[in-house]
Amino acid sequence: MHCLLKLAALALAALPAVSAFSGQGTQPHCNISNSNLATDLPSSLQSLIPPSNVSLVQVTMGLGTQNYTCTNGKYVNVGALAQVFDISCLQNLPAISAAFSQAVNELELVDGASLLNFGITLAKMGGFKLADHYFDTSAGPLSPVFNFQVSNGGFAIGKKLMDLPDPTNPTVNVDWLQLEAIAGDAAKFLVREQTAGGQPPSSCAVENETLQVPYAAKYWFFL
Ligand SMILES: *[C@@H]1O[C@H](CO)[C@@H](O)[C@H](O)[C@H]1NC(C)=O
Ligand SMILES: *[C@@H]1O[C@H](CO)[C@@H](O)[C@H](O)[C@H]1NC(C)=O
Ligand SMILES: *[C@@H]1O[C@H](CO)[C@@H](O)[C@H](O)[C@H]1NC(C)=O
Ligand SMILES: *[C@@H]1O[C@H](CO)[C@@H](O)[C@H](O)[C@H]1NC(C)=O
Repeated sequence: MHCLLKLAALALAALPAVSAFSGQGTQPHCNISNSNLATDLPSSLQSLIPPSNVSLVQVTMGLGTQNYTCTNGKYVNVGALAQVFDISCLQNLPAISAAFSQAVNELELVDGASLLNFGITLAKMGGFKLADHYFDTSAGPLSPVFNFQVSNGGFAIGKKLMDLPDPTNPTVNVDWLQLEAIAGDAAKFLVREQTAGGQPPSSCAVENETLQVPYAAKYWFFL
């Protein structure tokens, strides 16, 4: 699983210069008017689609880690740290739109060279960095932050509205989510779906032990 970290580092190394645009950072590299979250979601998860009075502004992939602390024999999620890349130029490829999480999970099982090639390909195809994703308490409770400073944008701090198990492999892949922004101007709604990895082992033995589990996911931003 640690190979995903190499992939993230590689994509970071390939950052091009960016220009100022608006709250959600740089304009998507490719036209996203035909990108549709509904086509990524099985019928049982269509409820993740935000209200119709908001519009899609970014289609992205996040790469990073989910963080856990061992508490009473179970790993409890204590946040995440990830980098968020534009995938507007990739979204309409069948492997990305229909089988992203399967592809990432399979890549995790093969050797590092394949993962590196995947990272190089993504970077070449326009997977530039849009935002940093982390957790902080600037809006009150510990909350997910999407900070677009690296692409000259603003930020969004989310609050979870929906949390649904990954439909294919929920013990390996973290839940699919709908978030509403409680602060910031970069998005009103965010959806995390097509998750790959990120789940901890089912139990732990050493109290307070921390664990970082690599994951990838698609994040859709609506404004
Ligand atoms: C994006 O694509 C849509 C539909 O294909 C088209 O109507 C629109 O003009 C395009 N926008 C840009 C900025 O090219
Ligand atoms: C969008 O619709 C929701 C209800 O679905 C409503 O609560 C919200 O105020 C609306 N937002 C705007 C900007 O119209
Ligand atoms: C998550 O783990 C990473 C790597 O150890 C660390 O840099 C980051 O601060 C942690 N974030 C949270 C919210 O625990
Ligand atoms: C675990 O951390 C908590 C809070 O920081 C502390 O009160 C407790 O003593 C720690 N337990 C162990 C076994 O280290």
